[in-house]
Amino acid sequence: MIPIRPRRLRTTPAMRRLVREVAVRPSQLVLPVFVADEGAEISSMPGVWRHDLDGVSRVAERAAAVGLGGIMLFGVPRDYEKDDRGSQGWAEGGILQRGLRAVRAAVGDDLVVMADTCLDEFTSHGHCGMLRDDGVVDNDETLAAYVSMAIAQADAGAHVVSPSGMMDGQVEVIRAGLDGVGRDDVAILAYAAKYASSFYGPFREAVTSSLQGDRRSYQQDPANRREGLREAELDLAEGADMLMVKPAGYYLDVLADVAAVSDVPVAAYQVSGEYSMVEAAAAQGWIDRTAAVEESVTAIVRAGADIVLTYWAEEMAGWLK
Ligand code: PBG
Repeated sequence: MIPIRPRRLRTTPAMRRLVREVAVRPSQLVLPVFVADEGAEISSMPGVWRHDLDGVSRVAERAAAVGLGGIMLFGVPRDYEKDDRGSQGWAEGGILQRGLRAVRAAVGDDLVVMADTCLDEFTSHGHCGMLRDDGVVDNDETLAAYVSMAIAQADAGAHVVSPSGMMDGQVEVIRAGLDGVGRDDVAILAYAAKYASSFYGPFREAVTSSLQGDRRSYQQDPANRREGLREAELDLAEGADMLMVKPAGYYLDVLADVAAVSDVPVAAYQVSGEYSMVEAAAAQGWIDRTAAVEESVTAIVRAGADIVLTYWAEEMAGWLK
């Protein structure tokens, strides 16, 4: 005799729906969007585009209409605009600032408008900060640039700035910098645990990255779980309003650890490679695309994410309604 039969709770669709533990809500999804002077499809991310200013406004309107939680903007400058300091990152007329203004003009406060606060798209060498003579990214000099960038993004209308460069102390200095210019209303989504991941590959095409080499002296070693928690605790102590774990799907242990201790909302970023692998397999007919998309995002929510950044956000919101 088998006394306990969990299968009783899996008998019908209605029963399974009744006992389901998590469900993905459109309002917890954030769409990452690339803004550039000229739009173009990103070949390594089928279905994802770099949008021009008009395009990005339309995307934001659609995101608001389907009830998404927010959008996260990345700026893609022209190659000749890049310099060794990444100065377009904080220029008033920089592409990201123009994109933020266009989006706020289109959606106002109907959507939470977030900005990536990092220099890699804007530097000629492709690193997330300024290089010392020996080629190492200079932590403290980079911090000053992040503060300028966060203020420029706030001025352009960002509700949330999102330091993703993994410099030590970045949350603390950005908070002080924003408060110093009277922008205590702008929130900080801190990339607490960001790993040096091969799954960012397609993103680098998306932002026409100039990077040679790698980011292993500032992004985390994929082998380290405890360190993810340490980074999260530091960001909380520095005043982060929300935390992010990135990538998402291969770092569910880190995400669960962070969610267990965080007293602020926890986001997870399903990155470009996670997107492109499913799209590529689905295009070959090797995987059921819709089911894989839904399963991958559900798993991230199950592990503890309150917020999920995913390139499928708009499409998923359509199914979930
Ligand atoms: C850095 C940044 C990266 C991503 C988001 N912000 C790239 C990197 O660290 O190399 C990757 C996102 C993705 O792969 O979808 N500004």
